[in-house]
Amino acid sequence: MTNEQLTFGGDLPVNRVGYGTMRLTGWPRGGNPPDRETALTVLRRAVELGVNHLDTSNYYARNGVAANELIRAALHPYPKGLVLVTKVGALVEGDDIDRPAAEHDGLTPDGLRRGVEANLRSLGVDRIDVVNLRMGDRGHDGSAFEPALETLMSLRAEGLLRHIGVSNVTRAEFDRACGIADIVCVQNLYNIADRDDDALIDVCAAAGIAYVPFFPIGGGFRPLAAERLNAVADRLGATAQQVALAWLLARSPNIAIIPGTGSPAHLEENVAAGRLRLSEKDLAELG
Ligand SMILES: NC(=O)c1ccc[n+]([C@@H]2O[C@H](COP(=O)([O-])OP(=O)(O)OC[C@H]3O[C@@H](n4cnc5c(N)ncnc54)[C@H](OP(=O)(O)O)[C@@H]3O)[C@@H](O)[C@H]2O)c1
Repeated sequence: MTNEQLTFGGDLPVNRVGYGTMRLTGWPRGGNPPDRETALTVLRRAVELGVNHLDTSNYYARNGVAANELIRAALHPYPKGLVLVTKVGALVEGDDIDRPAAEHDGLTPDGLRRGVEANLRSLGVDRIDVVNLRMGDRGHDGSAFEPALETLMSLRAEGLLRHIGVSNVTRAEFDRACGIADIVCVQNLYNIADRDDDALIDVCAAAGIAYVPFFPIGGGFRPLAAERLNAVADRLGATAQQVALAWLLARSPNIAIIPGTGSPAHLEENVAAGRLRLSEKDLAELG
């Protein structure tokens, strides 16, 4: 792992500044997605700027706007080295939300297979680089976790995916996952104002497992964090969002970021944040 790159599973290098597609679709709800041409422009420009890690899901779809369809329309045939990371499993939003959790089938073997196959179809690939098993749905008692990982391992043995990650997992679930499968990444909520995963990040770093924080800037930072971010940002001539991203990159070399935006200007800023170096003084001030 270097300052600029890390590797998923030892064989998939990605630049540490990636891109998350969720906000292109207005998912989960009430979003304000960009128009189609802007969305396609953002995806193509991201790759031009060196982004080679796109985070997505087949269920990032709302009102006929689907992230995977946009990725395919913008970028297929995919440039060499572009790493597509998707997620299957439990949902807390989406079409399933109105049904009781017991009726959600995202974590069943059939549901997982359908999820992987839907991603293959919509992305237009024969194999997905990384599939995250997403936990965190309400109403699941956790008993589906091991069988779900075993299902993903079977799908991997069939050649439908290359690597397995986990998302929305507790530390205990992470430990259970590592006892079953080679886990290459963890995708959990973490940012400068939400640091519950500090210990998990260090465990992942020691094990060579990538940690991909979601909501790297979108969580609405608490006032203390915002005040400190603004002070450092003013000094560096950057924005608070850029400092928040640079802080994540400085936090640990196994962190890869996937900030989401529908704005070409914000995309440029987010990629530029990868070049922002925070001093010891800056980091101390950010706490
Ligand atoms: N595994 C999971 O359960 C899970 C959950 C949530 C998200 N994710 C993944 O994580 C990715 C990142 O999360 P996210 O997109 O929800 O949140 P985020 O990256 O923390 O924040 C996105 C929000 O910040 C704004 N923004 C982005 N860049 C900005 C900038 N430079 N200056 C000011 N505002 C900026 C965006 O608005 P504009 O569009 O106006 O820029 C958008 O409202 C998602 O896209 C998705 O791929 C995974």
